[in-house]
Amino acid sequence: MTLVSKDISNAIEILQRDQLVAIPTETVYGLAGNIFSETAIKRIFEMKKRPMFNPLIVHVASLEQLNEIVSHVPEKAKLLAEAFWPGPLTLILPKQNHIPNLVTAGKDTVGVRVPRHPIALELLKQLNFPLAAPSANPFGNISPTSSKHVKNYFEGVLEMVLEGGECKSGIESTIVGFENEEPVVYRLGSTSLEDIESIVGKVSIQNKKETAPNAPGMLSRHYAPETHTFLVDDAADFIKQYPEKKIGILSFDIEVIAPQIVEQKILSLKGDLEEATSQLYAALHELDSLELDMIVAQRFPDYGLGKSINDRLQRATKRK
Ligand code: TXA
Ligand code: MG
Repeated sequence: MTLVSKDISNAIEILQRDQLVAIPTETVYGLAGNIFSETAIKRIFEMKKRPMFNPLIVHVASLEQLNEIVSHVPEKAKLLAEAFWPGPLTLILPKQNHIPNLVTAGKDTVGVRVPRHPIALELLKQLNFPLAAPSANPFGNISPTSSKHVKNYFEGVLEMVLEGGECKSGIESTIVGFENEEPVVYRLGSTSLEDIESIVGKVSIQNKKETAPNAPGMLSRHYAPETHTFLVDDAADFIKQYPEKKIGILSFDIEVIAPQIVEQKILSLKGDLEEATSQLYAALHELDSLELDMIVAQRFPDYGLGKSINDRLQRATKRK
């Protein structure tokens, strides 16, 4: 049985034994283990069936702890950390020697972030080691935004889920690396591009490499439901070709009406992108559980968090 509980001391005890605990963060639940425990880190890769070339994000309690993890902090990295931590931003920086290669998949850089969820922060403060935590889903699947999603994936094989309610931001952190001291976005996420650019000016985006990507989470098929998923500009028009299919619709703020629609998820009736982002994965999890013939998502506005949502939906359309 996988224990679901709010008991931080219980989580600490399990983590100190080199075992794993799924932890709530403001973005998605993470599958967490002690970065210095080979047993724990190997178990993370094994449990997620994650390829060993895909590095893990290190979670720390405060900006000050960055100095124990990385060997150099570019000026713009410092500005971003000051602006967004605790929060959904991961910085990729050169690692110190004592950070295990297993965590960074052999890279000489490490991804670091300070999460904003109060329970995650409290846990990290009480531990005397940082936590490596990828999203708590099998490789390629939709990330979990509730303890229930985690339990569905790992019931019985995972010791504990630390209960922290539904994740507020709802999609993964934005990942920023540095090339010649200049920021490069490797993964769009819960911190919008506009917010990042308001701190450091124009940044480049490099998130579409198909092979050996900078952030391997950018492999094109990722975050995907089992149900065949489409991303289209006009859902009402698109589904006219499929009068006989059982269809689930995912949209920002409009309702689509047609007899073949079995279920419809409108992510924010009032047209609020933050609200929509927080609901995205829960809606995909639910649509995916209904044995539909297809999920049809209508493209979101292409600015702010809408860009990040479109990125995830685009990846969700890729077949295995
Ligand atoms: O919001 C999040 O970031 C969540 C929560 C749990 O913190 N974590 C998460 O982890 O999404 P994961 O493992 O599912 O995605 C981490 C991404 C991967 O695409 C990985 O390739 C990239 O971060 N990454 C980690 N370390 C890296 C490094 N040193 N260089 C380049 N990419 C890195
Ligand atoms: Mg992931």
